[in-house]
Parts: sequence; structure tokens; C-alpha cells
Amino acid sequence: MIPLDNYEKFKARAAEQNAADILNPFEKEQWDQLKGRNPKGVSVRCKKETPKGFLCMEILENLRSVIEHPVGFNLKHWVVFNWYLKTKWLDAFRAVNLKAPAAVAECATGSGDKIPQVLAKYFCHAQSKYVSVNLNKQLTADFKRATHMLPLDISVAEDAAQNIGGLFAKDSLDAVVFEHAFNDIAEDLVAKRYGIDTVNLSWWDIMQKLIDSTNDAYRSGAYEPIIKEDFLRIIKSSLSVLKPGAFVISYQFHYQADIDMGIDPNIWSDITKTVRRWLAEEKIGREIFFDGFEPNWWLFIQKA
Ligand SMILES: C[S@@+](CC[C@H](N)C(=O)[O-])C[C@H]1O[C@@H](n2cnc3c(N)ncnc32)[C@H](O)[C@@H]1O
Repeated sequence: MIPLDNYEKFKARAAEQNAADILNPFEKEQWDQLKGRNPKGVSVRCKKETPKGFLCMEILENLRSVIEHPVGFNLKHWVVFNWYLKTKWLDAFRAVNLKAPAAVAECATGSGDKIPQVLAKYFCHAQSKYVSVNLNKQLTADFKRATHMLPLDISVAEDAAQNIGGLFAKDSLDAVVFEHAFNDIAEDLVAKRYGIDTVNLSWWDIMQKLIDSTNDAYRSGAYEPIIKEDFLRIIKSSLSVLKPGAFVISYQFHYQADIDMGIDPNIWSDITKTVRRWLAEEKIGREIFFDGFEPNWWLFIQKA
């Protein structure tokens, strides 16, 4: 697998004094426990020296696992993944020069609350707002429960990302983001062709069917024709509601759970490249490459 990142760089960042500030209080407690700090600030559990201080070996092992393997592979402490993911999204927002007040839409969010958490903490402003564009009813309910306490104007549009152009005023958003979501959108599109209800049923209950039908479509050659037009529409419509110069950002990676359930890993390894190729062919948006963001997993498309 192409690593998500430079492990040595993130190892150093994880050892910085304020590294865990990005975590919520519950996660921070877990992180601090792992770090095993004594009152003098020295790790008592393993004393692994990094360029900037001491970190517990367990944090480092889990960080390496997140960066160099599918997420979930040998991962004992999910807080390390949460730390990495939030840190990386904050880096991405800083790379595109996002500033508060920020208006951000996230597509195919499911119950994922990492991006709203980052926005609430680092882009906090009375006029900042976040909208999840999401179809599955149960995951929308879970998302609302997970985010209702955050100090940010958060709402959900229970609609398809394909319709984002009709959900927001033209030139009104500062970013449209996709967090491990191209795969979900592709699965949803394939599932609809296979007659699977992805809106009203529990996403987790139909997961195996989603994986089986996606593999089937991929191997039979039906996959690209099923998903291409909708993906182009999603990105084109997203660009139409962005302010000039603003970005569509996608971060894709593998979860070990999907691989364990049988997904062909090539499908999600290739999806960013595939979408990039379609966008280039159709001359949609302008791709920008930022240092530190692996192009196999990240896509930054700027509106002219
Ligand atoms: C497993 S959850 C996604 C979680 C999130 N992307 C993550 O990995 O953290 C899958 C969600 O994607 C949503 N979804 C799939 N295709 C979509 C589309 N075209 N528009 C909006 N939501 C979509 C589903 O409704 C479901 O709620």
C-alpha cells in the first residue's frame, strides 16, 4: 500500500508538547493515558525518544500502522487514528488557506464527526457553518447525536451529493469536502443499480451486499460506466457553489474492515486516480498539488 504519509514527520509532530490539543477531552484523556506521563512530563511506560521529546512506544506503533497499512490493521488505539486524521484535515484546511468564518459542506458524511470537530475548534466564528450532505437516514441520526454539542452552526441536507448545486447559492461555500467518501458514493451508486435500498436500511446491515455488488460491478467492467457521470456531476456542482479560488478536497484511504469483508483493494486504491483522470479529460476545475499530501489519496480541485 502507498503510505498515507511520512511516518517520521508525524512521529515528530506527535511528540510536540501541544500535539493532543486537537483532540476532544475524551480523546485527550486516552492519549494522555497512553503517553503515560508522570508529573515531570517524561514517559514512564517506554521512554521512546523522538526528536522533540518522549512518546509511548504504543502511540508510535499505532501511528505507523495508520500511516503504512489500511486503517484498522493492528490498530489497538483508535485515538491515534483520530489524532492523525484531525491533524491532517487541519493541515489540508491550512494548505487551502481556509479562514474563519468558513462555510463548509461535507458530502457522504455518514456519522463521521471529525471534520465538524476540527472546524468547531479552529474555525470558530459566529458566521462559520458546516452542512453535511448525506443520504442514509440512520447515519444522519447518529451524526446529529454526535455533533449537537459542538459550538458550530451544523445542519444536515438529507439529499444526494449529486444535488449539491441546488442546495447552496452559487459562489457561497469556502470548501466542499469528501472524507473517505468517494468509496461510499461509488458503493451507493452501484448498490442502486443492484436494487439495494441505501437510504432507509442500516448502512452496516447492507455493508456486505455493498461490497459484493461493488466487486461484481468492478470485475464485470460495469463499475466505471455506473459511477462516472454522477461523479462528474458531483464535482462540477460542488465547484459551482464554491467561491472563486476555493477547493473541493477529497481524502481517500483503506479501512481494514472493508478488506476483511472482501472488497478488492484495487478499487479504493485507484478511485482518486480515476476521478482525477475524468476531471482532466473533461477539463473540470484545476488540480493543485500540495507538499505533504500524497496524490494517490488526496485530491485538491480549485475553482477558477
Ligand atoms: C459509511 S458512511 C460514510 C462515512 C464517512 N465518509 C467516513 O468514512 O467517515 C456512508 C455514507 O455515505 C452516504 N452517501 C453515499 N453516497 C452518497 C451520495 N451520493 N450523496 C450523499 N450521501 C451519500 C450514505 O448515505 C452513508 O450515510
